[in-house]
Amino acid sequence: MSEVVIRVRDLVKGFGGPRILDGVSLEIHRGETVCVLGRSGTGKSVLLKSIIALLDPDAGLVEVLGRNLHALTERDRLTARRDLGYVFQGAALFDSLTVLENVGFSLVQAHEKPDVIRKRVLEALEEVGLAQAIDRFPSELSGGMQKRVGLARAIISRPQIVLYDEPTTGLDPLTTDTINQIILALQKSHGITSVVVTHDIRSALTIADRIIMLEKGRIIAQGTPDEIRANQDPWVQRFLGLQPPVVHVP
Ligand SMILES: Nc1ncnc2c1ncn2[C@@H]1O[C@H](COP(=O)(O)OP(=O)(O)OP(=O)(O)O)[C@@H](O)[C@H]1O
Ligand SMILES: [Mg+2]
Repeated sequence: MSEVVIRVRDLVKGFGGPRILDGVSLEIHRGETVCVLGRSGTGKSVLLKSIIALLDPDAGLVEVLGRNLHALTERDRLTARRDLGYVFQGAALFDSLTVLENVGFSLVQAHEKPDVIRKRVLEALEEVGLAQAIDRFPSELSGGMQKRVGLARAIISRPQIVLYDEPTTGLDPLTTDTINQIILALQKSHGITSVVVTHDIRSALTIADRIIMLEKGRIIAQGTPDEIRANQDPWVQRFLGLQPPVVHVP
């Protein structure tokens, strides 16, 4: 079995109220594409933010590339995060900055030279098929293009791991396919390990090596797409749309 690059053990997170993550344990191996599925509000974004140490756990352990980010100072976390790309839910671009400035933001912070920044941004934009948009503003781009700019920003520091939070939500099926192809191409050409949070079952079944299903802060099923399809648990079947929905009309 290949190297474990993300290890989460017995992760618990609440916000002073009920537990949002209630003892999550998982391992992600180098080069894998893992999709985390679950309905709205079940703690998917909280899980990703805990992995990248934007949120600290109440209990449990998170290790990324063998390091416990939560034990580091904020300054050291910033350095450690260069190995991690994060695609935010919603594109989360700065409206007043161009695509160049958005994608190259972290390189400006790292005091890279302008010509180096432009070259690196162009390379990242080429990976997502958007080199022509480098001098445009986010408001001049479609939703799908904005998501691709978010992807380019996530890979600008050449991370080993990319965490995607709902990269295809709200997109039409064809644009969704484009984003999925980019995710797979990045994995293939750079060996990037991908963790993709989504409630888009079709995407998960298409791109995932492994699917992890979260419900109420716990993992209730995991396996390859074929194993998940064959899982007879009624909740899993319903989530996959393989059983008719239960609708209570008052
Ligand atoms: N910073 C925070 N402070 C307090 N509560 C939070 C915080 N972040 C998330 N929560 C709560 O944790 C729960 C899970 O949120 P999370 O964003 O992880 O859901 P999700 O599975 O990503 O949902 P969606 O599919 O809608 O994005 C929600 O009830 C949310 O209100
Ligand atoms: Mg979310």
